[in-house]
Amino acid sequence: MSLELKSKIENVFPTEIPKEFQFAVARGMMEGLHYLINGEIVPWSGETCEVFSPVCVNRDGKLEPFKLADSPMMDEATALRALDAADKAYDEGRGVWPQMSLEQRTGCIKNFVRLMKQERDTVVALEMLEIGKTKKDCEKEFDRTVEYIERTVDTMGDLKKYLSEAGTVGSVARQPHGTMLCMGPFNYPLNETFTVLIPALAMGNTVVVKGPKMGMLCSVPLYDAFRQSLPDGVINFINGDGRTVVTPIMKSGKLDAFAFIGGSGTYDAILKSCPNPRSMYKNAGLEAKNAAIILPDADLESTVKECVSGALSFNGQRCTALKILYVHESIADDFVKKYSEAVSKLSVGMPWENPNITPVPDLASAKRFKELVDDAVGKGAKVVNECGGVANQTMFFPAVLYPVNDSMRIYREEQFGPVSPVAVYSSVDGPIDAINNSRYGQQVSIFGTHEGEIAHVVRGLKNAVSRININTQCMRGPDSFPFTGRKDSAVETLSITDALLEFSRPVVVASSEKNAELVKRLGELV
Ligand code: G3H
Repeated sequence: MSLELKSKIENVFPTEIPKEFQFAVARGMMEGLHYLINGEIVPWSGETCEVFSPVCVNRDGKLEPFKLADSPMMDEATALRALDAADKAYDEGRGVWPQMSLEQRTGCIKNFVRLMKQERDTVVALEMLEIGKTKKDCEKEFDRTVEYIERTVDTMGDLKKYLSEAGTVGSVARQPHGTMLCMGPFNYPLNETFTVLIPALAMGNTVVVKGPKMGMLCSVPLYDAFRQSLPDGVINFINGDGRTVVTPIMKSGKLDAFAFIGGSGTYDAILKSCPNPRSMYKNAGLEAKNAAIILPDADLESTVKECVSGALSFNGQRCTALKILYVHESIADDFVKKYSEAVSKLSVGMPWENPNITPVPDLASAKRFKELVDDAVGKGAKVVNECGGVANQTMFFPAVLYPVNDSMRIYREEQFGPVSPVAVYSSVDGPIDAINNSRYGQQVSIFGTHEGEIAHVVRGLKNAVSRININTQCMRGPDSFPFTGRKDSAVETLSITDALLEFSRPVVVASSEKNAELVKRLGELV
């Protein structure tokens, strides 16, 4: 074990959060308890919970969690007040917001994004401190989200169609579903939430956003931008325990749409209390177990590079991360040597230092990663990289497990963290079968050079996953590409254009051909 790396892990935590981010800590402490309902930003005075950073601070040799804010643990009545505000703003489709033209709503959203940009430093710093993502990646996430919003409003004008067939003409427009509940994830609390929230708003829906338990703070500095840009009640933010605040909203039967990013278990549990599941529109990004299949003739140097980044960017806490690597037996030992050497070279540090590996959200996550490693090791796998699985509080150094097999939890469970299992195959039909039989079906990466071999895998997997990456890692972007999954990995599809279609439904003004001009004029109203 490298003593240098071990010592870095042992001494990774600072004695203080750097001064340059104290302004964000102050904002968190000051504003964390605020919430936005019906156009009013007010402080919560009920039950609260503490928000800690994954970054611990070393106080006289003792590591302590660093407190960032208090956050509201709202009650049922407040959650229902948020729903009521959204419901009234929608007013069965006759509210100000759903009645606005696309151009008017575009204007409001452009105003929001102008104000959002002014909060970049605070949003970035709060996200970095709350979820432990590197500063560079939080900045990228912020900028990608701004670009997504700007491209969304630019695309909205292209949604109208005029049809004419067999003597009938029709103006086809898109109208909102109605009142929506939106729940985003901890790992991309800004981007993933906003890539459903903004298109839903743009199409005229009114929304209640329930912030994630970890990652709720970065939205707080944007409440005022929303308040200033949108009519009262169009957007409302709530926080708290899901059973207390989400279940009553779902149970009310007043939701027309539900957008969710997170685990399928939670998604299913929430839907159980929905009295109208058939008529409620659903959109979800759920778990995945994206695999890399490394063919015998793969270029090892570039494959190792893509796999390290694909498996371990943001500590592997991405739904698109490579969560299992299948390597052909003829190159397995060579690949694993190169892969584990590359993993051992990853830098560890604090999110503001922009290292490769940062602390994971909490001790419970670190414990779960250790359990997955122990389970695999107990069943015959080895941790093959230096310091693999070495942990210090929330800092967990990635563990490369080799060889793994289907008796181990890590073979099929989504780890969502820095544990990277490698399985060996003799015939590529083995991994093809395993992926087809998996509960999940988001993406796959194929690494190889012989086109015929790659084509065989593409044919074997084209109905098992939703994106097949050739000699590159799995990823969501670019944002014009459809992002979805099969089986338990997703419900419906997102992209800049798809999201606008998903969060709306077609409405046609139609008549016979002789009324074509009237249809065009009335079509402008929808
Ligand atoms: O966690 C899921 C994200 O949507 C992944 O996005 O591939 O751009 O990191 P990414």
